Amino acid sequence: MIVLGIESSCDETAAAVLEDGRRVRSTVVASQDAVHAPYGGVVPELASRRHLEVIVPVVQRALEEGGVTLPGLDGIAVTHGPGLVGSLLVGCSLAKSLAWAQGIPLVGVNHLEGHIYAASLTDDPPVHPFLALVVSGGHTALYHAKAPLTYHLVGETRDDAAGEAFDKVAKLLGLGFPGGPIIERVARDGMPNAIAFPLAQMTDQAPDFSFSGLKTAVSLHVKRHQPLDAREVADIAASFQATVVKLLVRKTVKAAGGLGVNRIVLTGGVAANTALREGLAAAAAEQRIHLHVPPRQLCTDNAAMIAAAGTARLLAGERAGLDLNAVPGLELAPARAGARPGARDSR
Ligand code: KG4
Ligand code: ZN
Repeated sequence: MIVLGIESSCDETAAAVLEDGRRVRSTVVASQDAVHAPYGGVVPELASRRHLEVIVPVVQRALEEGGVTLPGLDGIAVTHGPGLVGSLLVGCSLAKSLAWAQGIPLVGVNHLEGHIYAASLTDDPPVHPFLALVVSGGHTALYHAKAPLTYHLVGETRDDAAGEAFDKVAKLLGLGFPGGPIIERVARDGMPNAIAFPLAQMTDQAPDFSFSGLKTAVSLHVKRHQPLDAREVADIAASFQATVVKLLVRKTVKAAGGLGVNRIVLTGGVAANTALREGLAAAAAEQRIHLHVPPRQLCTDNAAMIAAAGTARLLAGERAGLDLNAVPGLELAPARAGARPGARDSR
């Protein structure tokens, strides 16, 4: 079964060809970092225009490198949410046109499910049930995947996403965009325990995350200690990164214990971070939990993961019609009943 995946939910235009849900024949990702860097963040209007310019060549290249032509496809999978509406529409419109013109089955994929399916593209795919920590620029959430294509929201961020916190702190430190990889690089020269930033705890003990207090603490520290030399910037980056990792690791391992699952999937753009990969691996090993982490290039946005989730949905008999639409706020699982905001800081 050969499936073309198309992803354009944010600032990467991506296409991939996947065979039998497991073998990546090709994966092409056109990054828009250079487009948005001068603004220090993604500019939605520029993102959709850029998608429009590059999506056809990106799909053509994925087909060529995947050694397949349109009539040879068994399905097309496209991200239809969550994301930026103008960006999502570009991918959805192209996917619908190709599917209609060629009479190919079409399926819409939730971007977050795509991130989770990235873990199935390794030699060690996760078996259900497992807990998935999805950490990206727009989302930070824990999902309990009890059975294929079934997700239960265990916990989520009550304010910023982890990736957003990396991006904002990088901006505060004048390091550029996107912040995650830059913070990681700069942090290598700093000491993770140089500054004791606060670790958010939920007053109601919920397995939720909060990063806005940490971001404010970094901002106050920067203001108090300006001008900063390179050593201080590195220490702030390392201490911030260590705090994020500690928070994510603690909540995730605790939630896995509470659910009684012994498999965790770590995925999303922030899962490319070495400190997080190593931190969660160590904590999981201590608890005898099996950790599944996709290779870095499959953690950040790509279309192979969309094709993987799409293959599973196509095999389950799911089909999208030409009324498939972009859904910017698409949820993977319904919000938990009784979830309420409220975080406090503690060390
Ligand atoms: O999943 P992704 O590629 O796009 C979204 O779905 O949002 O995640 C992008 C986010 C950005 O905030 C970026 O700064 C962060 O992932 N990121 C990282 C690293 N690489 C990307 N954060 C920390 N360390 C990294 N190495
Ligand atoms: Zn993503």
